[in-house]
Amino acid sequence: MVDIRSEFIGIKSPNPFWLASAPPTDKAYNVVRAFKAGWGGVVWKTLGEDGPPLVNVNGPRYGVVHGPDRRVLGFNNIELITDRPLEVNLREIKQVKRDWPDRALVVSLMVPCEEQAWIDILARVEETEADGIELNFGCPHGMSERGMGSAVGQVPEYIEMVTRWCKMHTRMPVIVKLTPNITDIRFPALAAVNGNADAVSLINTINSITSVDLDLMTPEPTIDGKGSHGGFCGPAVKPIALNMVAEIARNPETSAIPISGIGGITTWRDAAEFMALGAGNVQVCTAAMTYGFKVVEDMIDGLKDWMEQSGYDRLDDFIGRAVPNVSDWQYLNLNYITKAKIDQDLCIKCGRCFIACEDTSHQAITETKGGERHFEVLDEECVGCNLCVTVCPVENCLTMEQMTSGVDPRTDEAINPEYANWTTHPNNPARIES
Ligand SMILES: Cc1cc2nc3c(=O)[nH]c(=O)nc-3n(C[C@H](O)[C@H](O)[C@H](O)COP(=O)(O)O)c2cc1C
Ligand code: SF4
Ligand code: SF4
Repeated sequence: MVDIRSEFIGIKSPNPFWLASAPPTDKAYNVVRAFKAGWGGVVWKTLGEDGPPLVNVNGPRYGVVHGPDRRVLGFNNIELITDRPLEVNLREIKQVKRDWPDRALVVSLMVPCEEQAWIDILARVEETEADGIELNFGCPHGMSERGMGSAVGQVPEYIEMVTRWCKMHTRMPVIVKLTPNITDIRFPALAAVNGNADAVSLINTINSITSVDLDLMTPEPTIDGKGSHGGFCGPAVKPIALNMVAEIARNPETSAIPISGIGGITTWRDAAEFMALGAGNVQVCTAAMTYGFKVVEDMIDGLKDWMEQSGYDRLDDFIGRAVPNVSDWQYLNLNYITKAKIDQDLCIKCGRCFIACEDTSHQAITETKGGERHFEVLDEECVGCNLCVTVCPVENCLTMEQMTSGVDPRTDEAINPEYANWTTHPNNPARIES
């Protein structure tokens, strides 16, 4: 029986699936229903300073990128942090934590870059007995123009300063939520480390315009003839988020800091991938907004099944396992030779592999044989790029196979079983002589 209980920076939850700070965690009503559905924890929708609540637009706040089957691939929003009174949120947080002691409840915060503002809010959050706080240094619209959110997350010195204040003025664990709207994620992550953060979480949303209404000539979502950039999330951002998580996990200066992985997680597999790359747990927003709270059931069941099949008893058995296999390009093995292979029994002769290879790759696939449509890989031309596998509509019809002996008919060179990379390659003017 596998055990998927999670302990992230001392915060316990029955599973590693938390809802990210966003509309699903905006109020007690939602959070209670999420806990009933099985979510292990939540990061409450970001709270701001006491005072008159913020005001959201009263028109559409979402832009979307649909796949051909209208499935949501990416999601863009122009929503602000909570627009409910601070007092109401704090009262609900306290009650929910009391009623659900086994679930993680972290409170997301965003107040101006003034020490007193942080001291004030931290004291009030502590009273709720929430498990921790998450500093929202990521929101890319509306709040950043007011000097908060990604305006802080884009300046490592500010990240370090505010994190340090929080660590000085609260006993609660501090998670720093990073913005992806920067050039190199390692710098803001290091700033969080230097400020003594307990963990980082990433990613928040990506600056974006999802589409333009060509009749109105306005970006979408459109508010009275105008649109503004918003934050992009959902399945489309997962590759960007995975890379950023891996960058932090394998950088010696940041590798020790726990990571909460966020960005496009829709299935158990997405979650497992984030965790394999070093995330101690995961947070989900778009999948819950698209499919409802019950998606967590499949995530839990799927993760358990996979762990069982893979022989992992606990989450720690596979967290970070893929990190040592993330390499810089120059260390990839240049003696690893593959060729594409087409299973003629599965091939439906659609010709997509031929067109892709003929027009944009290495002219390594036949189109006809004896006057008939026939698709076959020419090993003497194939560079093993796998473009054909990528475009083939039939699963497992096109596969890549490694050559382990003999001669590569493309180069006429014998297969060399030794590992050799670009740093020592004869064609590299800056090669390292062995
Ligand atoms: C409508 C909406 C509102 C959001 N509001 C917040 C917020 O208040 N605070 C925050 O830290 N992140 C906020 N986010 C970002 C999410 O927490 C999350 O980082 C992002 O959506 C990526 O995860 P996903 O791909 O699973 O959606 C919001 C996202 C959406 C879609
Ligand atoms: S792997 Fe690349 S070069 Fe080889 S057949 Fe496929 S598309 Fe062409
Ligand atoms: S893309 Fe796949 S199915 Fe289509 S011709 Fe090529 S191998 Fe056959």
